[in-house]
Amino acid sequence: MERIQNIRQMQERAESLRLSGKRIAFVPTMGYLHEGHLSLIDAAADCDIIIVSIFVNPTQFGPGEDFESYPRDLERDIALAEGRGAHIVFHPSALDMYGGDPLTGVEVASITEVLCGASRKGHFRGVTTVLTKLFHIVKPHVAVFGQKDAQQAAVVLKMVEDLNMDIRIRIAPIVRESDGLAMSSRNVRLEAEDRKNAARLSQILFGIRDVFANGEPLDKLLEEGRAAIRKIPGASLEYLEARSYPELQALKNKDSDANILIALAARFGKVRLIDNVLIPGESGRKEHEKAPGERNAL
Ligand code: PAF
Repeated sequence: MERIQNIRQMQERAESLRLSGKRIAFVPTMGYLHEGHLSLIDAAADCDIIIVSIFVNPTQFGPGEDFESYPRDLERDIALAEGRGAHIVFHPSALDMYGGDPLTGVEVASITEVLCGASRKGHFRGVTTVLTKLFHIVKPHVAVFGQKDAQQAAVVLKMVEDLNMDIRIRIAPIVRESDGLAMSSRNVRLEAEDRKNAARLSQILFGIRDVFANGEPLDKLLEEGRAAIRKIPGASLEYLEARSYPELQALKNKDSDANILIALAARFGKVRLIDNVLIPGESGRKEHEKAPGERNAL
């Protein structure tokens, strides 16, 4: 497997792959790979070349967030990506990515201000800016994201649509630990007791989804869900909300055919976890039939 650190070299490699007719899939990551990331590599298996980037992007972390303590292990990541079928790992330095004192950024308005965006000011601007840079460097035909970061996926879909980026966005389902906890590079930072209790988050989401299917009003279920999360020892709830997906608008009764995203963020000590479930609406099911796997993981 090839490792490329230099931006110009990556661009030249991507250009020659394109010229030789290869279809390039891109899996952008911040490293410390787990089964969730590796499932994104699986989801790209129909492409000729799979490029995984490993870059802990400083501009998507706010002051006081966990940029310094974010887990890193490049050699392990490279071995895991190779073992799963990636062809190239691109791992630029922060100096090469941002050394030139950039004055340019990419910002998706409004849908970046709700859910995680409400407390993480500037986070999504960091994400969309680094992804635009990475897309120009890796030149992929397809880019794969995880449904775990549902808001990020929705923001990327909107950016690609708004800016006419010629890239198919593929969104792969959440991969969970055996007790239901959504896989995240941050899980390793949970204290043992918190790790056990964190499994309650997905149980609460699944509970809401299942009882909603029996016709209970969503507002009441969300209120009960918030109360249940507040009772988890060590947990501090940031939000538990339902929105249309991928539009991320507040739900109205007339949107009964919208896909519904039920998403949460909660902290255990310094570790912030997110999770979600998606309930496909009529329009979502139709969308999925038209382009299975290319838009969302319903
Ligand atoms: O999901 C992530 O790991 C990051 O937000 C991404 C997409 C790699 C951009 O830095």
